[in-house]
Amino acid sequence: MSLAPVRGRPPRDLEPPRDLARGWYVAGRSSHVGRRPRAAVVAGREVVLWRAGDGAAVVMDRFCPHQGAALELGRVVNGELRCTFHHWRFDGEGTCVAAPATRRVPRGASARVHPSWEGLGYVWTWVGSADPEYPPPHFPHLDKDSPAHRRYRFAFDTPAPARRVLENGFDVPHFPVVHGLADGLRLTWDTKEDPHTIAARITTDAITLPAPLDRRPGGLGRLCLHLRSTPSYQVLTFELNDRPVAHELLAVTPVAQGRTTMHGWTVVPRAGGLLGSSPVFWGYRLQHWWGTRADLRIYRDAGETDGSINTADDEGVLRFRQFHRRWTGRGDK
Ligand code: FES
Ligand SMILES: [Fe+2]
Repeated sequence: MSLAPVRGRPPRDLEPPRDLARGWYVAGRSSHVGRRPRAAVVAGREVVLWRAGDGAAVVMDRFCPHQGAALELGRVVNGELRCTFHHWRFDGEGTCVAAPATRRVPRGASARVHPSWEGLGYVWTWVGSADPEYPPPHFPHLDKDSPAHRRYRFAFDTPAPARRVLENGFDVPHFPVVHGLADGLRLTWDTKEDPHTIAARITTDAITLPAPLDRRPGGLGRLCLHLRSTPSYQVLTFELNDRPVAHELLAVTPVAQGRTTMHGWTVVPRAGGLLGSSPVFWGYRLQHWWGTRADLRIYRDAGETDGSINTADDEGVLRFRQFHRRWTGRGDK
C-alpha cells in the first residue's frame, strides 16, 4: 500500500511518530493541491490541503469544527473552503466566514490552520510547536536562472522513522558495505553556523567503480559528499574531483509511527550539452535508485532502538542523533 499522503483516501487513526523533531515536513506535492481539497496525514494528524483566494496553499485540520464532516468532500468556492455538510465556509486563516443554515456565524468559529510554506514543488508544514523555529529549505539549484542542469524527483515509502532516513548520509561505515564505495572515507565536521544545522564532509581520494567498469589506477578520482542537515530536511552535494556531480534535496513526510515517505529532488549539472551530460545523469540516477533500494531494504526490518554498541567509526550517526534529539521532546531545547 502506498503511504504517500495525498494519493487516494488517507489511512485513519494513525499513531503519531515517536521522537519526531520539530521541523518543516512535506505535506504534499504542489501539483496535487489545486481546485479540489485533498486529505493528507502528516505526523499522525489528519489535514486537508487546499488553495485560498490568493492562491496560497492552506494546511487545515481535516474535520469540520461544526459536525466533523471531512473537509476534502467540500469545495473551494470564491477562495473559501465550503464544507459539504451544512455549507459553512472557511477562509485561508481558518476563520468561519459564513454559516448559511444558522442565523449568524458562531463567535470564534474557526478551523485550525497549521503553519505552511510552499516552494520547491511541495507544500510544507511546520510540525512540533506553534510557530516555525527555523526556515524552510533553500535549494537554489532548482531555480530557473541556476546553471543548466537535468533533474528528477523521487519518492519512496519506508516504515523507518524520519530520523533514520536523515542520518543515513552521516553513517560513514555503511558506504563501503552497502553502496560499494572505497574504504578509507574521512568525515570532517563543518563549523556549525546555527543551532538548526549540522554539516559535514565525507571524502575519499580514490573512488572506484566495480572492476569491469573502472580499470584506471586510482579509479574515478576524489569524491566529496557535502551534507547539510536540519532536523527535518537536508541538502547533499556530491563532488568528483572538486566539480559538483549532483545536488540533492532530501525531505520527508512523517506520515505516522512506522510510515514515512522520503521525497526530494536530484539536480545534475549539465556538462558539455545534452549528450555530454546524459551518461552522468543516467549513471547518477541509476546508482541513486540502486543505493536507495539497498538502504530501504535495511530500513524495512530494522529495530527501532538506536543500537547499544557503537564504535568511533559511528561518530557521524551518533552526532546526528545527538543533534536531532535536541529537537525532539526527548532532548534539551
Ligand atoms: S459539518 Fe461542516 S458545516 Fe456542518
Ligand atoms: Fe545509504
